Amino acid sequence: MVCIKVEAKFCSKLLNLVKGYKLEKYKLISEGTKRVIHLNNTIKHTDLREIPEETRQAINEIEGIQILPTTLHLGYEELTADEIFSKILPPNLELVTSFETVGHIARFNLSPECEPFKKIIGKVIMDKNKHIRTVVNKTANINNEFRTFQMEVIAGEPNFLTEVKDNGCRYVFDYTEVYWNSRLSKEHDRLVSLFKKNDIIVDMFAGVGPFAIPAARAGCIVYSNDLNPRSHHYLKENAVLNKCDKNVKAFNLDGRLFIKELLFGETKLNRIDHIIMNLPASAIEFLDVFRDLRLPDRSLTPTIHCYGFSNETDITKDAIEQGQKILGPIENATVFEVRGVSPKKTMFRLSFPYEIKREEESEVVEPPHKKQKTEL
Ligand SMILES: C[S@@+](CC[C@H](N)C(=O)[O-])C[C@H]1O[C@@H](n2cnc3c(N)ncnc32)[C@H](O)[C@@H]1O
Repeated sequence: MVCIKVEAKFCSKLLNLVKGYKLEKYKLISEGTKRVIHLNNTIKHTDLREIPEETRQAINEIEGIQILPTTLHLGYEELTADEIFSKILPPNLELVTSFETVGHIARFNLSPECEPFKKIIGKVIMDKNKHIRTVVNKTANINNEFRTFQMEVIAGEPNFLTEVKDNGCRYVFDYTEVYWNSRLSKEHDRLVSLFKKNDIIVDMFAGVGPFAIPAARAGCIVYSNDLNPRSHHYLKENAVLNKCDKNVKAFNLDGRLFIKELLFGETKLNRIDHIIMNLPASAIEFLDVFRDLRLPDRSLTPTIHCYGFSNETDITKDAIEQGQKILGPIENATVFEVRGVSPKKTMFRLSFPYEIKREEESEVVEPPHKKQKTEL
């Protein structure tokens, strides 16, 4: 191992230069007027040949610098979780220990090979991440309509009521009762950034509100819906928590009934700017609610944002074809690749303007001569 001794007054300059090469989480040591910085195991030589020349030169030019070989005995306290896993787990197993953080909960999807080590994995994660109080492992895949999954606690307290911060908003929910995916955070932000103040937004599968709440906070009027009564409950709580409840109208209906309610029921919207359909496993099928839909007294032209999955290499073509199969011709569509779900499966967003026509506009008026012919 290599360490660098430097006068205290040059310490921050040196720390900047050795960013990425410093031994993380290991404190600086004071030796009189000097500080000792230990480098990580990417640096094996005291001539620092592993560091690009320009940086190396800048380090060597620091007055009074000393670069020395050293030995350090690191214990559990100093090692990172990954370093501990690489020491205690069989080779290659540590590669499957990445997890999702949901508030105070760390959620693993451990492979069967990790099963015998799950308790120790949970303990290390708790010890090394002070904000984590519960570590769970997903025990069965999502296979119900509310998109929740079974989990077991592998470390910490069995407390699933959590609070998540996402794109400047706060969400509370019980993680066992509702759907939440931190990996969609960027997409939530990306889509909401397309909305303008006073836009009318319809969120057909809203969950606990990661599109609805930031949109409402941005000044949109949001009609949000979820079939899961618990998501509906937390969505309303989150609207209050984020002080945007006056802009959120929450429904607890099946997605198709929700659209019918907004168009033909008491709500009877005269304008919709965007419709969000984030239920990737089946949202495309729900597009049928718009097919051949006619309104008696008005037309609407929302942009529909429908999420789905594709296993094809040409995702754009596949997404548009999937949509057209249900809805008929789709024009001016854009397809955005949201994230890779597995090596061959991609989540996409299919966005396109869609006219919900007024009844009379859609009636085919036959030319008079043709009419006469049929009358004969
Ligand atoms: C993939 S989650 C998306 C939630 C949220 N929009 C997000 O981005 O995190 C889909 C949501 O649709 C809800 N859902 C499932 N089937 C539904 C249906 N037929 N009608 C309305 N909501 C439904 C589920 O309860 C779940 O909360």
